[in-house]
Amino acid sequence: MDKYAVFGNPIEHSKSPKIHSEFASQLNQQIEYSAILAPIDGFKESVEQFVARGGKGANVTVPFKEQAFALVDELSERAKCAGAVNTIKVSSDGSLLGDNTDGIGLVNDILSNNFTLQSKRVLVIGAGGAARGALLPLLQQHPAQLTVINRTKAKAQTLRDEFAKYGDIEAYGFEHEPDIDYDIVINSTSASITGDVPPISKRFVAQCELAYDMFYSQQSTSFNDWVSSINPNATTLDGSGMLVGQAAEAFFVWRGVKPLTDNVIEKLKSGIL
Ligand code: ATR
Repeated sequence: MDKYAVFGNPIEHSKSPKIHSEFASQLNQQIEYSAILAPIDGFKESVEQFVARGGKGANVTVPFKEQAFALVDELSERAKCAGAVNTIKVSSDGSLLGDNTDGIGLVNDILSNNFTLQSKRVLVIGAGGAARGALLPLLQQHPAQLTVINRTKAKAQTLRDEFAKYGDIEAYGFEHEPDIDYDIVINSTSASITGDVPPISKRFVAQCELAYDMFYSQQSTSFNDWVSSINPNATTLDGSGMLVGQAAEAFFVWRGVKPLTDNVIEKLKSGIL
């Protein structure tokens, strides 16, 4: 049976084994998928051992995505842009292809909830790894406007400059906000982990049709609660769909078949997975 695994530290709470087992039974694919706790200073060795044992592919999670980027032999365009690898495919000659499916997981989740990004004014809050991974797939949807706003303005500006060859991005800090209403507002900051909300103007979410918190949670997130209190008409989504979506895209990279995600997202949200 083909072997796959997710590498992280910590790893015990990872939903990936359950998500991939759902995909495998849905598509009648025989795979073995395990969770591997890699030592903080031993990611490379862990992956090498896995490949030596016949591993065909891997997911990579915190804190190893940048190390995976450095480890692989070849990078997809979206991994290059993201500066991080969350999916590794082992080629028949044993070489490693690094990909990043996080951003496309986000975009596919937005589209499958019947929102379009094309011609929309899109605001991304935060300029860390999660934002970086999302920008190319977002630009590829041809939004009317894509703005990155971040606590540390210089990081937003760096992203703007790095992505200039793919499309226009506006960069702001919290202290000097743009005078624009947004249709879709995406929170990529890690503020939700601690129940915080990034201190942006209420104005940005007052007219939006969709607020998307990349943070995955079974409960409503602090950001989405904040948006709903200002704009009850806005749809709010959390990172559950993105989590399942990035996994579905990884499954496709490895197996060439694309799982359906709706049912799996529902199971994840309801705590069955
Ligand atoms: P990740 O890989 O999850 O994106 P990261 O690279 O550490 O994590 O980036 C975290 C992002 O959340 C950053 O944009 C950070 O802002 P700074 O660049 O100014 O540090 C943002 N962030 C974290 N906590 C925040 C808070 N309480 N309010 C606003 N932004 C916050």
